[in-house]
Amino acid sequence: MPSAAESHPPLRVALLGCGVVGTQVARLLTEQADDLASRVGAPLELVGIAVRDASAPRDAAVDRSLLTEDAAALVERADIVVEVMGGTEPARSLLLRAIEAGAAVVTANKALLAEDGPTLYKAADAAGVDIYFEAAVAGAIPIVRPVRESLAGDRVRRVLGIVNGTTNYVLDQMASTGRGLDEAVREAQDLGYAEADPTADVEGYDAAAKAAILASLAFHTRVSLDDVAREGILAITADDVAWAAQTGHVIKLLAIAERRDATGAEAGVSVRVHPALVPTSHPLANVRGSFNAVFVEAESAGELMFYGRGAGGAPTASAVLGDVVSAARHRVLGGKGPQESTYAELPILPASAAVTRYQVRLDVEDRPGVLAQVAHALAEHGVSIEAVRQPTARGGADVAEPGVAELLITTHAAPESALSATVAAVAELEPVRTITSVLRVEGA
Ligand code: NDP
Ligand code: HSE
Repeated sequence: MPSAAESHPPLRVALLGCGVVGTQVARLLTEQADDLASRVGAPLELVGIAVRDASAPRDAAVDRSLLTEDAAALVERADIVVEVMGGTEPARSLLLRAIEAGAAVVTANKALLAEDGPTLYKAADAAGVDIYFEAAVAGAIPIVRPVRESLAGDRVRRVLGIVNGTTNYVLDQMASTGRGLDEAVREAQDLGYAEADPTADVEGYDAAAKAAILASLAFHTRVSLDDVAREGILAITADDVAWAAQTGHVIKLLAIAERRDATGAEAGVSVRVHPALVPTSHPLANVRGSFNAVFVEAESAGELMFYGRGAGGAPTASAVLGDVVSAARHRVLGGKGPQESTYAELPILPASAAVTRYQVRLDVEDRPGVLAQVAHALAEHGVSIEAVRQPTARGGADVAEPGVAELLITTHAAPESALSATVAAVAELEPVRTITSVLRVEGA
């Protein structure tokens, strides 16, 4: 008797893109063809690979006879379209055309999903086809499926994660070697972690796109890139990193999505990406190099942590292939994956409503009464002080200039709006020379 894989006609897979990720998807589809056919119940046949330049050199794992520069024609003859080309166009138009033509689609394109995911989700819903995107958030780490499916019976309160490998590598290098940001970014580029233009990573756009996708899934609410309050790592100095270490913290670029209920503060969803001090005892502090990790707090499940490689060809291709298998199984057995769920329609809270603890570092004149003036300014804005330190030496090494003292103030949780107003008021005080840095403290 023929196995299910032998009796079902092959499923045609079109691959859009053959770069870092696409090359590995093509390799795995070929090398693991037999296993995949058994898991799906039908062979997966790679029918074409769309690229910009079909004559360019390719990895030996890529069958050059499959290369085409006509992506539009390719999507017309596929059951499953895998988009790993990146960018907004032509990726969006090609995926929409594939969906209209009845193909299931799999994409790793977080930028497109964070900008215009709903257009794709609606089209897939109308056409009754699957859209999967596990690889779009944190590469190999299964996080989309757990949040979208495994936690569908729970109520997620908070998602807190390191979702950008490049910036985690840069901050980790700064902490372990004392190097400055520019030097660490150059090293990340030399090692192939950071792209030639690292803007999307260091300015937090990549993490913000991932935060928007996770927040949408976690809170059943449409969250787009524009809803995410974003701050990158460009302002982080070697001195900040040294000070963080002295106070038992590391600096991480965090993506945070939280649901706030209407008890006192405004109800809704707050989504933000920014550098933050994380206590060295927190599990996220030990996420080193280019690794990613995501913490999820749900009401019944409690705390969950997902950890692994957030980027790279083979790790990302693993997530893509998992989605291809899910979509392919539906083609063979019937059924459909989950649709976009936005029933909760929670309001998106402004950045100013985010509530967190802060560490403020400032240089002041070293004379009686100065600390009292600073404390008074904080109290006037309703910001409560948790601790004040007046170190004798700077975290970076050298002793402060004579007559000038460095103050390190840690606050209790305060709304961002109150903190900003406080910092502005403190900066105006006559004995305050400069506010050296203002960093949020998370995970305490
Ligand atoms: P690459 O730049 O390495 O590869 C892009 C591929 O798409 C290339 O093969 C390129 O063709 C092709 N391509 C680009 N534009 C077109 C076009 N207009 N028409 C036809 N082909 C086109 O990208 P990555 O593999 O790094 O990333 C792909 C996607 O995966 C992106 O959305 C990215 O955000 C996402 N992703 C990437 C991760 C990673 O670690 N790299 C991790 C997680 C997600 P050609 O080769 O001829 O230039
Ligand atoms: N540039 C991204 C990172 C790749 O550094 O994490 C994965 O999305």
